[in-house]
Amino acid sequence: MKVLFATSELAPWVKTGGLGDVAAALPPALRQTGADVRVLVPFYPALRQAFPDAAPWAAVPPLGGRLGGALLRSARTPDGTPLLLLEHNDHYDRPGNPYLGADNRDWPDNRLRFGLLSRVAAWLGSEACPGDWRCDLIHCNDWQTGLAPAYLRYLDELPGSAARAKSLITIHNLAFQGLFGADALPELGLPPESWALDGVEYHGYLSFLKAGLQHADAITTVSPSYAREIQTPAEGMGLDGLLRHRGERLTGILNGIDTELWNPATDACLHGHYDVLRLPQKVRNKSELRRELGLRPAEDRPLLGVVSRLTEQKGLDLLARTAEEILALPAQLVVLGHGDRALEQHFRNLALSHPQQVAVHIGFNEVLAHRIEAGIDLFLMPSRFEPCGLNQMYSQRYGTPPLVRATGGLADTVVDCTPATLAAGRASGFVFQAAEASAFLDCVRRAVAAWHDRRLWRQLQINGMTRDWSWQAPARAYHTLYQQLIGTL
Ligand code: ADP
Ligand code: GLC
Repeated sequence: MKVLFATSELAPWVKTGGLGDVAAALPPALRQTGADVRVLVPFYPALRQAFPDAAPWAAVPPLGGRLGGALLRSARTPDGTPLLLLEHNDHYDRPGNPYLGADNRDWPDNRLRFGLLSRVAAWLGSEACPGDWRCDLIHCNDWQTGLAPAYLRYLDELPGSAARAKSLITIHNLAFQGLFGADALPELGLPPESWALDGVEYHGYLSFLKAGLQHADAITTVSPSYAREIQTPAEGMGLDGLLRHRGERLTGILNGIDTELWNPATDACLHGHYDVLRLPQKVRNKSELRRELGLRPAEDRPLLGVVSRLTEQKGLDLLARTAEEILALPAQLVVLGHGDRALEQHFRNLALSHPQQVAVHIGFNEVLAHRIEAGIDLFLMPSRFEPCGLNQMYSQRYGTPPLVRATGGLADTVVDCTPATLAAGRASGFVFQAAEASAFLDCVRRAVAAWHDRRLWRQLQINGMTRDWSWQAPARAYHTLYQQLIGTL
């Protein structure tokens, strides 16, 4: 079973969020189930640096419209996962964020950059594919590779291209839809008939994500709860009608995490290693983190933390609005993140007015992210919506109970602490319902009170640390779905 995993991010080299982590961890887990998976990703500068010897694998001819020729190179990651690196210097060899320029706005040629990525994926699933590795299935991820299923559909009508791959699209985030003007259609080499309600058109725009949802043989998203939520008008971001229409093809498969990379017993970023049997040694990470960030040592107050993109989705305005009350509980706070300028400034100001109680680091910092997960007492994730979320799983693995809103993958991975869930040995964090400052604050109060009960807290930590967060079960679920799609099951 040959599977092409097409992605616009790949950790640790190119990552803006969870998609990068998933693209790095799911393919190797799938290979362990016996699938022959290769990862298709643009040859960004960070990948050029990491794989300077990547050998040419195939020349890609011009594939219609303004999609010029390109080169595919092959390499293997340190864990042995084969990569197909899409080289097109004009499109991908530029510094910075994969989607945004230095002005924080979308790169103006994103339609061509991710159009080419999608088109090359489809090409690898068509008869035109060179060599002996025509894939049986293309696993697309988010809008950036969402056009691939549409290309497959229209390829089908071209002579000689009948044998084509099946396609699956995973929604990591419905909020990003890849919308472009109608003039993109000929540029992307799509036929005029694709401009239709059951094609790539969406309210007068060309939508990469809609194209994928419309044409893929199956749709998955990254948690069962999000799979239900996106079929409702409230959470469907305009696509709920289509998702309901294709509901029989839509399933939720909860993400796993890379339990090697995120292992408190071996994590090279940490000051002190620990596991569930050596839990008291976790505290060394807290004292070092406080020292590193200039926070006052204080045994009487918990250290609360955030690692996040600072966007509307993540609900951190709820924290911004209640921070003074939270600090007065008393508690300390560390925030690592970047994004929304106003929110960045708000948190910076908070740190300025409480230098010993609040540390704020605006930016992206992988090492600090690991140290925060290990060093804090309570991880805050009050998301408005959350397809899956990885940090609440990282934090549970690190013995740091999370406090989350009951939405999407957060609802599926965090068990609220109640007498009943404690008695059942399942409680692992704190969950609140309404996306309102008062509900959030009440929940923080409840969590801080629980933190003062050392035995109860220890139980929460143990429950979270001993749950299986690995990719094994999700990889098996994807494998079964692949088999169903390819018709071998
Ligand atoms: P999303 O993909 O919506 O951003 P996830 O929780 O799925 O949310 O994944 C976020 C990933 O990005 C996690 O690995 C998290 O640690 C990481 N991350 C987010 N912001 C930062 C940051 N400022 N510095 C370091 N890592 C970050
Ligand atoms: C998206 C979602 C996040 C999810 C991640 C990986 O970025 O916002 O919830 O965990 O993708 O699937």
